[in-house]
Order: sequence, then structure tokens, then C-alpha cells
Amino acid sequence: MKNKPENIPPMTKKQPLFRRIILPVVIAWLFAFFIASPDYDRSAAYSAGQEQAKSGGNSVEADSTDLSNREIEEINTFEPGAFENPNRCAGCHREIYEAWNKSKHRFAWEDPFYQPDYLKASRETGGATDVFCGECHAPIARRTGLLPPPDGSRFDETSTKGVSCDYCHTVKEIVEPVNVKNISDPGRVKRGPRGDGRSPYHEVQYSAIHTDPAFCGACHNVTHPSSGAVVIDTYNDWKKGPYAREGIRCQDCHMTPGPGVKKNPGKSSVMGEERDHVATHFFPGGSVLFHERDDNEQQAALAREMLEAAAALETETTPAAGGVALLVRIKNVGAGHKIPTGVTYIRQMWLEVTATSDTGEVVFTSGHVLEDNRIDPEAVVYQTVFKDAQGNLTPKSWIAEEIAYDRRIPPKSYDEQTFDIPVAGNGKHRVTVRLLYRSMSQEAADALGIEGLDVPAVEMARAERTLN
Ligand code: HEC
Ligand code: HEC
Ligand code: HEC
Ligand code: HEC
Ligand code: HEC
Repeated sequence: MKNKPENIPPMTKKQPLFRRIILPVVIAWLFAFFIASPDYDRSAAYSAGQEQAKSGGNSVEADSTDLSNREIEEINTFEPGAFENPNRCAGCHREIYEAWNKSKHRFAWEDPFYQPDYLKASRETGGATDVFCGECHAPIARRTGLLPPPDGSRFDETSTKGVSCDYCHTVKEIVEPVNVKNISDPGRVKRGPRGDGRSPYHEVQYSAIHTDPAFCGACHNVTHPSSGAVVIDTYNDWKKGPYAREGIRCQDCHMTPGPGVKKNPGKSSVMGEERDHVATHFFPGGSVLFHERDDNEQQAALAREMLEAAAALETETTPAAGGVALLVRIKNVGAGHKIPTGVTYIRQMWLEVTATSDTGEVVFTSGHVLEDNRIDPEAVVYQTVFKDAQGNLTPKSWIAEEIAYDRRIPPKSYDEQTFDIPVAGNGKHRVTVRLLYRSMSQEAADALGIEGLDVPAVEMARAERTLN
């Protein structure tokens, strides 16, 4: 039996769109993946777009806002080897190294979900996207001229390690928190949140920008360089939300020992001072799947905790014609930005509803995972979907013109959805509602050609009640 929403709140009017348009398009996309790639103008479009990209807004150092992309690129060009291998930091900053070494920043390049998407973008654009994607996923290779070619064949060891210590700790300026508009200054000076420590290996310098979410925003805010389509909006979303107003930063939730604002007292280095909080470097997000595949139980558990901290469910029932109307309220109680956030054109968050009678018979379902590991096409799904220049829906960020569909839950806010359960409200039926998350849809995993991956779901929140 299927869900037929009755009291449709504003956002949910978009739901039929999923059935009518998104599903056929996902199928068409799978099809297109095997046949042809769009005729798309390459580097010209990309670099021209970069030049046109609007400047201004949240610059941390106002002086440089009018630097053009070409000027930023010139300043950021270094010799191979200019950035230090993270191994060199490991001896003294052992705990930080070990946390980072298993984080997604470490694997930003070698990521098995990134690589197929990246190589597909490269093939379909004749290499136009190679450098653009590399800016965030292999920033050291990019800034030391080792990219392209896209296969990483010219990379040195440091470059393969994604977003690493010396990349982050030698950033000296944020020009604008989008598309990596920051300035690198690799060398003896390591910049961080203090400046009062003493190291025999390097100089330390206090850097306000490292304590500022705009530092993260340089990468966690992505716009398509020529169309201007919003690809990732985590920073902008945080910036206009309640946590920014309260001064709760990305660092306060993602560089602490667990969800919420917690302290991690200790030393950041064997030779360092005792501190009341040392920033942790696990950078947990929602990627349980990624870490489980990497046999990294500790990080997988952290990601699970983050997902569980993000959301809460409430339910209400009212008598309705032919049954009971079940109202589900999905609250974003713990994330500093929308849930989901990031690459929400790949990720999926959805509601699973199951009503059973007192004899155990299932009388209603919505959002169940079907045999082929796809989700019930009538499910209530939270995600974004792009439209390309021809107006077709597409999950390919590199041909995105604009966002066609966006259903996500803002921080400290909620969404509501009503389900009509066709049973009498006589206390003889129970309903279970689960909010589920997965790192990518099964359609996306299949299209990326990730062999034998049945994308698993993680439960973010659950509510149960008797229907009366
Ligand atoms: C020989 C030991 C040693 C090595 C090697 C080392 N550090 Fe340090 N580092 C220290 C000490 C000691 C401190 C001061 C810690 C304190 O007192 O809080 C420090 C502090 C820092 C800080 C904090 C700066 C601040 O003021 O906020 C950063 C960032 C940093 N190191 C980065 C690095 C990076 C990146 C590498 C590798 C390229 C590295 N360190 C290698 C010993 C070392
Ligand atoms: C994605 C960027 C990023 C990467 C990668 C990164 N750091 Fe950091 N690190 C930061 C930020 C931001 C802070 C300050 C956090 C804050 O303000 O709470 C920090 C803080 C530190 C501190 C000071 C800790 C304290 O609280 O006293 C040290 C030392 C440090 N990092 C060393 C390292 C080392 C060593 C590596 C690699 C193993 C590394 N970092 C990788 C961004 C990064
Ligand atoms: C140089 C660009 C860059 C900077 C600066 C950066 N990040 Fe990231 N971050 C990335 C990339 C790229 C990924 C994804 C890597 C992947 O999955 O392939 C990522 C992943 C993450 C994740 C894991 C998400 C998940 O799905 O589990 C978190 C959390 C995160 N970053 C937080 C931060 C925070 C907080 C800061 C600032 C202190 C920051 N990042 C700074 C590029 C960056
Ligand atoms: C109040 C705490 C809080 C703040 C502030 C916060 N986050 Fe998060 N973040 C979370 C929680 C909880 C999750 C897990 C839920 C999810 O994945 O959507 C999360 C998830 C993420 C993810 C993984 C998204 C995914 O599913 O792929 C990234 C990336 C991220 N945050 C980056 C940031 C950045 C960058 C900032 C600052 C601009 C920030 N966060 C601010 C709590 C916070
Ligand atoms: C300005 C920075 C930036 C650029 C440029 C960028 N990305 Fe990313 N990418 C990120 C961040 C940040 C994340 C992590 C967000 C999250 O966890 O949801 C990410 C995550 C991803 C993921 C998901 C990885 C996973 O493990 O789930 C894929 C796939 C991806 N990017 C592909 C690309 C491709 C292809 C390009 C070029 C067309 C590109 N990215 C360009 C910042 C960037």
C-alpha cells in the first residue's frame, strides 16, 4: 500500500515531482552514461567562467577581494615539494596525525567514490574539469603543477594525500569563501589558532582565519564556474543560519571529540603546552559507508553519532476519512547547516514508514528499500537535483545550470509530512517511522560503476506509536 499525503504542507507539494520526473531521469541518466557525452566546451568555458565569477561578500581580508582568478592562480603556483609531507608532522603531532590520516580529508583524492565521478567529468569535458575538481580534492598537486593529467601519474607522495596538514596550515588568506579562493604560503611558518607555542621544527603564527568558518567555506562552498549553479552550499547555509548568529563555528562541531560542543584537553604535540582544548582532526560527517569500507570502525562510529545527533522525529495522529492521518515532523536539531548538506545531488535522506496490526500484518508502508536496493519511488526524499542547459534533470555537477529540486531541512528548523494510514484508529495498530540516510543513491553507485556495492542505510532517528 502506498502513501497518499493529504494535508500537504507547502514543501511537500513537490513530492510528485520525484515520481514523475526524477525517477525517469535517473533511468535516462544511467542510459546516457553508457552512450554519449554532451558536447561541452572545455577549458574555455571553465576559465572564462572563473573570470566572470562574482566577487565580494564575505572576504576575510578585504584588501584582496578584487584579485582576479588569474592573479590568485599566479600567486598560488609553487615548485613540486613546496608543501611538506604529512609524515614529517606525525612524529610530534601523533594524535592529530592519526586522526587526520583516517579522515576524509586524507582521502579527498584517493576516495573510491570521488575517482569515478572525477574521471567521468574529465572524459565528458575533454579534461576541462581536471584542474577545477583538483583544487579541492588534490590541492597540493594543483598548486605545484602536478595536475593534469587527471590520472595522477605525475603526483608525488604528498599530493596523493588529499587535503593535508601543510596545505591547511600554510593558508595565509581567504580571498572569498568559495571555490578555493585562498592564498597559500608554504614554508617554515605554520599558522594555527594560537601562536604562543614553541616548536624546534617550524615557526608558529597566530592566524585568525584558521579559527574562522570562512577557512572551511573556501572548499565547502562550491559554485559551477561558468553557470554559477550552486553545487555545495554548506558554508553559505551556515552563515545565514542560527549557529552563525550564536558564534558556533564548523570547528566547534567537527573538530571536537563528538557531536555537540565538547572539549578535548591535552597537548597537541609531545613538546607542547597543556591546553584546555586541542582541536581534533577526525572531521566526522555522515560517511559511515566510506569508513566502514576502509575498516575504520572508530571513524565510522563517529559518523554514525553525527548522523544521530542531527535529527529528531515527532509524530501526531488525527482521525481522517477511511483511517488515520499520521503527521511526521522531521527536526534538524544538531547540524549547523541543512540536512542533508554537501554533495546532496548524490546523497539521500528519506522517511521510512511501516504500520503493522497487532497480529503482525503490515498494513501500510512508505519509503521501503525495494529488491534492487532502490527506494520506493513514492518515498519522501530529502536531496537536491540539478537541471542542465537543456532543462533535463541530471546528477552531473559539471553540467549543472541550476537546481531544479531542493528539499532539505534548515538548521533548528523542521519539515512536516502527512501519511494517510488506511486503518481504524482503535489502538490495534502500531507505526514505526525511521529517518534514513545513505551516502549515495543506489542509482548513483551503479552509474559510477562501483562494483558490487549495495549502498546501506544508516538510521538517523526513529519514532514509534500506537495509532489511535
Ligand atoms: C619537532 C616537533 C614538531 C614537528 C616535526 C612539527 N611540529 Fe608543529 N608544533 C610543535 C610544537 C611543540 C608546537 C606547539 C604546541 C603547543 O604548545 O601548543 C607546534 C605547533 C603547531 C601548530 C599550532 C600553531 C598555533 O600557534 O596555533 C601547527 C598548526 C603546527 N604545529 C603544524 C605543524 C605541521 C603542519 C607540521 C608538519 C609539516 C608540524 N607542525 C611539525 C612541534 C612540531
Ligand atoms: C582541513 C584543514 C586542516 C588539516 C588538513 C589539518 N588541520 Fe590542523 N587545524 C586546522 C584548523 C582549522 C585548526 C584550528 C581549529 C580551531 O580553531 O578550533 C587546526 C588546529 C591545529 C593545531 C592546533 C591544535 C590546538 O588546538 O592547539 C595543530 C597543532 C594542528 N592543527 C596540526 C595539524 C597537523 C599535524 C595536521 C596533519 C596531520 C593537520 N593539522 C591537518 C585545520 C587543518
Ligand atoms: C582544501 C579544501 C578543504 C578545506 C579547506 C576544508 N575541507 Fe573539509 N573536505 C574537503 C573535501 C574535498 C572533502 C571530501 C573528501 C571526499 O570525500 O572525497 C571534505 C570533507 C569534509 C568532511 C567529511 C564529510 C563527510 O561526508 O563525512 C567534513 C566534516 C569536513 N570536510 C569539514 C571541514 C571543516 C570543519 C573545515 C574547516 C576547519 C574543512 N572541512 C576545510 C575539502 C576541504
Ligand atoms: C552545530 C553543529 C554543527 C555545525 C556548526 C556545523 N556542522 Fe557540519 N554537521 C553537523 C552534523 C550533526 C552533521 C551530520 C549530519 C549530516 O551529515 O547532515 C554534519 C555534517 C556535515 C558534513 C557531511 C555532510 C554529508 O552528509 O555529506 C559536512 C561536509 C559538514 N557538516 C561541514 C560543515 C561545515 C563546513 C561547517 C561550517 C560552515 C559545519 N559543518 C558546521 C554538525 C555541525
Ligand atoms: C571548491 C571545492 C570543491 C571542488 C572544486 C570540487 N569538490 Fe567535490 N567535494 C568537495 C567537498 C567539500 C566535498 C564533501 C562534501 C560532503 O561530504 O557532502 C566533496 C565531495 C565530493 C564527492 C563525494 C565523495 C564521497 O566520498 O562521498 C564527489 C563524488 C565529488 N566531490 C566530486 C567532485 C567532482 C567530480 C568535482 C569536479 C567537477 C568536484 N568534486 C569539485 C569540494 C569540492
